[in-house]
Amino acid sequence: MNKQLRKAIIAGNWKMNKTPAETTKLIEEIAPLVKNADCTVIACVPFVDLHAAQEAAKGTNIEIGAENCHWATSGAFTGEISADMLASMGLKYVIIGHSERRQYFGETDVTVNNRVKAAIAAGLTVILCVGELLEQREQGITSEIVSLQTKIALQGVSKEQLSQIVIAYEPVWAIGTGKTATADQADEVCGVIRDVIAEIYDIESAGKMTIQYGGSMNEQNADELLSKIHVDGGLIGGASLVAEKFAKIIEAASK
Ligand code: PGA
Repeated sequence: MNKQLRKAIIAGNWKMNKTPAETTKLIEEIAPLVKNADCTVIACVPFVDLHAAQEAAKGTNIEIGAENCHWATSGAFTGEISADMLASMGLKYVIIGHSERRQYFGETDVTVNNRVKAAIAAGLTVILCVGELLEQREQGITSEIVSLQTKIALQGVSKEQLSQIVIAYEPVWAIGTGKTATADQADEVCGVIRDVIAEIYDIESAGKMTIQYGGSMNEQNADELLSKIHVDGGLIGGASLVAEKFAKIIEAASK
């Protein structure tokens, strides 16, 4: 597998943080620090911050994304936002299937699959999150869980549409806990995901797929994690909210 085939992607996942005014300020802080990045830089922000983020990111190399979208194009789904609405704003990226959606909001592999298909149909690129719980890792079923999540999420997605998919391996026990997977653990599971892509599509598609690691990635461990053959970038929570930390991770990915 040739890592050179894949452009690194560092995406911030702001979760439920920042008002529109704070968004403008943070994007303005990040922009000059990452202007020479040799990787794709994305900030995925809360729905209400999307417009402010887009305005602040104009003329910079920062792309803006959302953190979720619904599977229907429109209709009686109070409180939801459709993929078409996001695309109509000129957005390109959306996170789907984050473990916090799965854990706290009843997201299942099937609803993840529905959202993925809607996002692709709207022309968005999906950052698809998969990852095992601590109990599952301790039971030794990490590969099975992550493979199954990947396969179900991609059901009905064609080989051509894979160019609209980025996968983020996020072990749930490492998210927001300060416990990072070791670089070898991250590499191993990203490799398992790559094998799944080869199995359901082909080797060429697997070689081109960008697979990120996420879960307490920070300015200190980014170098080692990103040096691994199967780790093509990061989905960054906490550290993406501090401009200098986020910029350091982007610097590591640009090497
Ligand atoms: P973290 O979050 O970097 O704060 O662990 C990562 C994520 O949830 O995407």
